[in-house]
Amino acid sequence: CGIVGYTGSRPVKDILIEGLTRLEYRGYDSAGIAVEQDGRLQVVHARGKVSGLAQLVAPLGLTGTCGIGHTRWATHGRPSEANAHPHVSCDGHVAVVHNGIIENFAELREELEGRGHTFTSETDTEVIAHLVEEAFRTNRDLLQAVREAVERLIGAYALAVVSDQEPGTIIAARKDSPLVVGMAEDGAYVASDIIALIDATRDVVVLGDGDFAKLTPAGITYYKVRGEEVYEPQTTHIDWDVDVAEKGGYPDFMLKEIHEQPRVIRDTLAGRLVDGHLAIDELDLSPEELNLIDRVYVIACGTSYHAGLIAKNLIEGWARIPCEVEVASEFRYRNPIITPSTLVVAVSQSGETADTLAAVRDARVKGAKVFGITNVVGSPLARESDGVIYTKANKEIAVASTKSFLGQVVSLTLLALLLAQAKGKLKTNQVRLLFHELADTAEQVEHILADTTAIDEAARACKDAKSALFVGRGMGAAISYEGALKLKEISYLHAEAYPAGEMKHGPIALIDEGFPVIAVATKSPVYDKLVSNIQEAKARGAMVVAVATEGDEDIRAHADHVIYIPKVRDAFSAITASVPLQLFARAIAVERNCDVDQPRNLAKSVTVE
Ligand code: G6P
Repeated sequence: CGIVGYTGSRPVKDILIEGLTRLEYRGYDSAGIAVEQDGRLQVVHARGKVSGLAQLVAPLGLTGTCGIGHTRWATHGRPSEANAHPHVSCDGHVAVVHNGIIENFAELREELEGRGHTFTSETDTEVIAHLVEEAFRTNRDLLQAVREAVERLIGAYALAVVSDQEPGTIIAARKDSPLVVGMAEDGAYVASDIIALIDATRDVVVLGDGDFAKLTPAGITYYKVRGEEVYEPQTTHIDWDVDVAEKGGYPDFMLKEIHEQPRVIRDTLAGRLVDGHLAIDELDLSPEELNLIDRVYVIACGTSYHAGLIAKNLIEGWARIPCEVEVASEFRYRNPIITPSTLVVAVSQSGETADTLAAVRDARVKGAKVFGITNVVGSPLARESDGVIYTKANKEIAVASTKSFLGQVVSLTLLALLLAQAKGKLKTNQVRLLFHELADTAEQVEHILADTTAIDEAARACKDAKSALFVGRGMGAAISYEGALKLKEISYLHAEAYPAGEMKHGPIALIDEGFPVIAVATKSPVYDKLVSNIQEAKARGAMVVAVATEGDEDIRAHADHVIYIPKVRDAFSAITASVPLQLFARAIAVERNCDVDQPRNLAKSVTVE
């Protein structure tokens, strides 16, 4: 979900709509704003996208200069106008926008209903508006009222609250859900993501966990959990360009971001080889300490989890350390074996995924060392890890992750090299050689991006399928999982990935005439085995699309469509082979008229469990 708020000298309406448009990638089931207008709160809700909200708002002639807005990804309560934020108290004087989940909302609601409050939505958020209303009635101070209200909440929240009883004031509060504030010349801004306020100011404050901020046109004051004022919060300067939020001539963000990948590889590797030695000093572990690590868990969700599957091959292959990869929502609820020599690597583009953060906290309590791999500077994951590697992807807007994924794979490859070196499994000159080969993948990806004819043709051939199977072996199996996820996320075409050797134990039953089987068939130690599996599929009528190594003419005999990619070492094949699969998924989504950047039901960042 996305939050934006402003109080200052300009009419707030356009600021809110613009901010929400920027944030829309985080959730787009419904949207709404609350504006202080002539001493009253005027609230507008719309189901669906922000553009619909903008149409409703335009004729209202709103001129107020203080307000809040929200774009929603439904958790409690289906997507509907009634469930859209802002939520308003019974007396109509308080409006609240909220990201996160209030776990005890049912009991709070019952309690409030018992005291005569009537609810108009099914959301957990609405209880906050009612709690603030009650507290305000007694203390007549919005900051104090919000404080008292959040004391009752169990769960995660980022909040912006306004009241027509305290005009021009926004109270911001957060716990386990991010919120940033910034002061510009024309007023004070709050948002759940820097991107919504970057046009106004580049100096922002990431609100501390449990902290509050009071925004007025004159300035922002900060308060700690316990109540003392914070006079000088730490300011973060944003140096990335506003144009990351523009499509830059591409029809959609996803294509733009796919094309940024060579740059991401180069930036992620920049400065990492100094005088022939790997430099990942921010991890802050000596080679001796690294050498003691005897077990690695990679924990993540979604696409980031797939980066973990690739890392497992490298960490076990090079460093010879047992490595398990687990989705964070599972890891956090079992009792994994963690000792002081366990390294937990948490991978998260946003650095704010609720399950990943919870798993990190749990692992640290149990004594593990935690490294974070994230794309967002200052994100909760970055702050809560013992060491962090930043993937230099820059802001990623398309909901389906592409460039961040590649940044993660490159960063995890560096980590695997570092561990292998510390364990004495790779010599310095071997590491150097591998590093240079890794850097060469930037150019190889450029080469893939230069001509997508074969990818587009294969996509056209598959676009009307009901279902597709992605297969590979070894590294190719890990790549297949990500290929299938991309396809199902953005084209709504059912896709499943399987290790090719396992196909005969189930999925082969699905194959009939023309059923698409996408095989990662790059040259690798298991290439011949994979070709046998492709033949098994072909013999049953499958339409085989093979991603293969340039120069491999033999594969043509087994595949209906061949997508050639440059030859790289198997260890780096995830970087090159993932790119055509991203383009393939996107091309199918475009053919099927899907919204590539904002697929239904998904959100860019999932800050709820
Ligand atoms: C959501 C996004 C995915 C992403 C996943 C994990 O599901 O739609 O693209 O891979 O969250 O996000 P993270 O920020 O932790 O990498």
